[in-house]
Amino acid sequence: MRFYRDHIYTHLVRVLGNPDPIREVRRQIIPQAQGVVLEIGVGPGVNFAHYDRAKVNRLYALEPNPGMIRLAERERRRIDLDIKFLGLPGERIPLDDHAVETVVSTFTFCTIPAVADAIQGIRRVLKPDGKLIFFEHGISPDLSVQRWQRRLEPIGKRVFGGCHVTRDIPSLLAQGGFRIVSMKTGYLAEFPKAWTHCWWGEAVPE
Ligand SMILES: C[S@@+](CC[C@H](N)C(=O)[O-])C[C@H]1O[C@@H](n2cnc3c(N)ncnc32)[C@H](O)[C@@H]1O
Repeated sequence: MRFYRDHIYTHLVRVLGNPDPIREVRRQIIPQAQGVVLEIGVGPGVNFAHYDRAKVNRLYALEPNPGMIRLAERERRRIDLDIKFLGLPGERIPLDDHAVETVVSTFTFCTIPAVADAIQGIRRVLKPDGKLIFFEHGISPDLSVQRWQRRLEPIGKRVFGGCHVTRDIPSLLAQGGFRIVSMKTGYLAEFPKAWTHCWWGEAVPE
């Protein structure tokens, strides 16, 4: 199981997690990060290349999976950014209150087991005028797709490291004390719709 998590799952995320429509959204939203930035669940570090070096003072790259950190280290070597890895889960962010200007989460709220705790922690470390940039997938508004999502979720959780496709991320953010200030939504691929219903945008602490 550990071998699967640290070696096979990591490569699945690297290979499947960045098709063209997803890369295009990353290219639009990640350069909006500024100041001291915390990225939750950086995985193989696919967002690193999209940060605007002129705007980011430091990037805290939180990731609990050592196999992912190995891949992300390779990405880090290619870019000129001050990156500090934090090898802990998102439920235990080891930063002071109000320590960061921007938090970034892409396809991570689907996976974090205690996601409500992680969102509370993000709120704690964000400055009052800071922002959360999110790009997540989850429950579809279409009932026929929802049915597939509920059927496929147990398989997806096993294959993709605990990924839930039935989470309603905008509602979780609202319950965690965030106000969404901009958001786009849609299927980023026609097939399989169960995996590709996404939301992306920015939220601020209430
Ligand atoms: C689907 S991958 C997304 C990776 C990357 N953010 C991206 O956009 O491609 C989910 C990531 O969440 C990480 N993860 C799993 N449990 C976590 C936790 N409790 N806290 C933070 N990250 C976690 C996984 O190791 C994995 O790197």
